[in-house]
Amino acid sequence: MIIIPGPTAIELGKEVSNLIENSKIIEVLYKQFPDGEDYIQIQGNVENDNVLVIQTTFPEQDKCLMQLFLMLEAISEMNPKSISIVIPYFAYSRQDKRFKPGEALSAKVISTTIKTLAGNLLDKVITFDIHSEIILDFFEGKAKNISAMELFGHYFKKLNVKNVFCLAPDKTATPRAEKIARILDCEYSYLEKIRDLTTGEVTTKVKDLNVGNKNVIIADDIISTGGTMIKAIKMLKSQGANDIYVCATHALLIGDSKSNIFKAGAKEIIGTNTIQNEYSKVSIASLIAKEFNNIP
Ligand code: R5P
Repeated sequence: MIIIPGPTAIELGKEVSNLIENSKIIEVLYKQFPDGEDYIQIQGNVENDNVLVIQTTFPEQDKCLMQLFLMLEAISEMNPKSISIVIPYFAYSRQDKRFKPGEALSAKVISTTIKTLAGNLLDKVITFDIHSEIILDFFEGKAKNISAMELFGHYFKKLNVKNVFCLAPDKTATPRAEKIARILDCEYSYLEKIRDLTTGEVTTKVKDLNVGNKNVIIADDIISTGGTMIKAIKMLKSQGANDIYVCATHALLIGDSKSNIFKAGAKEIIGTNTIQNEYSKVSIASLIAKEFNNIP
């Protein structure tokens, strides 16, 4: 199998290649023209090979997506046997439906473009903790979402966090908290959150969680502005929680979110390498390798 890590996944690509037998990396030459336009060249031959493209799409979403589109266009003209694509963080996944009339369905635009560029060569698309699994349907049976939550469970097990409680900061994140709780053999619950569709302002309903003196892990798919986590941290602190760990597969951590999360009372932020930053403490490489290890 040929692995082609895009400009945003060079380290992850190497890690994955080390875990997939008989795999070989082909590099990508990426340049930006003086006016900001992107240039991509695949640096090797992929004829008759199964190709795995890895490209995460943050930051900056639009640049990363353009790089992915250019890679797919180039590869599909080089006669590979098949193309699989791992998109660790799938940008625009929160615009998975038209919340208001006239809105663009961004996730569909991205999915349709990827599908069109890879054409009949498309074998699999893999995403991680995608915000909405509705998006997988745009790939007509070829897409699969993998959860990184078990990796967090093992991270906390190794950390030996005791007297622990898992919390989903909104109802849709409940299965995420449950996955971690199963590994740590602890209780879990969820909060109810309402987001104003115009201002983005988050309101979280107060809920009695019985977390006095407990160490709490809050688990979500994305931390963006940190608003969701901060609301949950404040509620937990007001109910006497002890140490609070916030974990999210995709720790985008926009603006002052990091310092605001710590100011609110979090002990630690834990993310994965779907977004490479100082909080990428857990690697998804083994989960990618598991998915592709039997492909020649
Ligand atoms: C939305 O429902 C997601 O699951 C996250 O909770 C959300 O994207 C986090 O965004 P923020 O950090 O801006 O509150």
